[in-house]
Amino acid sequence: MDTNGFDAISLNNVVKLYGNFVALKGVTFRIPDGGKYALLGPNGAGKTTTLKLIAGLLKPDHGEVRVYGLDPISDLESKKIIGYLPEDATPYRNLSVRENLEYIAALRGIDDVKDKVEEMLDLLKLREYERAKVARLSRGNLQKLAIALSLIHRPKVLLLDEPLNYLDIPTQEEVISLLNKLGRTMLVSTHIMAVAGRLTDKIIMISRGIVIWSGSFEELKGMANEGEPIEKVVARLMA
Ligand SMILES: Nc1ncnc2c1ncn2[C@@H]1O[C@H](COP(=O)(O)OP(=O)(O)O)[C@@H](O)[C@H]1O
Ligand SMILES: [Mg+2]
Repeated sequence: MDTNGFDAISLNNVVKLYGNFVALKGVTFRIPDGGKYALLGPNGAGKTTTLKLIAGLLKPDHGEVRVYGLDPISDLESKKIIGYLPEDATPYRNLSVRENLEYIAALRGIDDVKDKVEEMLDLLKLREYERAKVARLSRGNLQKLAIALSLIHRPKVLLLDEPLNYLDIPTQEEVISLLNKLGRTMLVSTHIMAVAGRLTDKIIMISRGIVIWSGSFEELKGMANEGEPIEKVVARLMA
């Protein structure tokens, strides 16, 4: 598959309706290969909708979504290059950690299932829990498993929907350092500025279904008045 020369992700004037409600009102942005971007916005802004469109789980009503030039709805090749962590990821509760990894690896048609499972157990520090049933895992370990399931096919692009939700501070730190080590294209949705700053270097800010600002953290800091915290700048842009 030749994916060179394409943006990792591009949205061109994307509109998404739920019934009569317009959730996305013409969203346009592009993320280059290797870019680490935050999709920042308040609850209800349209972050989850945007990620589902990129993951090919929703179809745009208007406009175009591309992942390395592929249409995530109709080009099945795109499934191989996209890793998606849903907002409330739910691994199979009655399977163990290892069984979840083996099952998803098999479903994804990975050749070296055994090696990949071992790699994920080590990467996410889940080996200690490999035989534990998901139903008995802590919230933090459940989230680590969900991240492992989104990574197991080595996707080129990672879509993470509020990846630090519900995690205690030590587990947040663990997940942050893990994600920072991965070194691949990432789009991370969050409503928390501090989370965006720890995981990414560029921001796409959305509110009420439109992109209201995009740029680097440096640019955002440059917009602050003397002594003003960056959160205030964000709040002002979103008002
Ligand atoms: N399945 C749905 N049916 C109707 N409205 C929805 C549905 N999913 C989301 N919405 C609405 O679309 C808007 C954007 O939702 P969402 O993408 O989940 O935002 P975010 O992830 O930023 O909180 C919200 O107003 C939400 O209530
Ligand atoms: Mg959401």
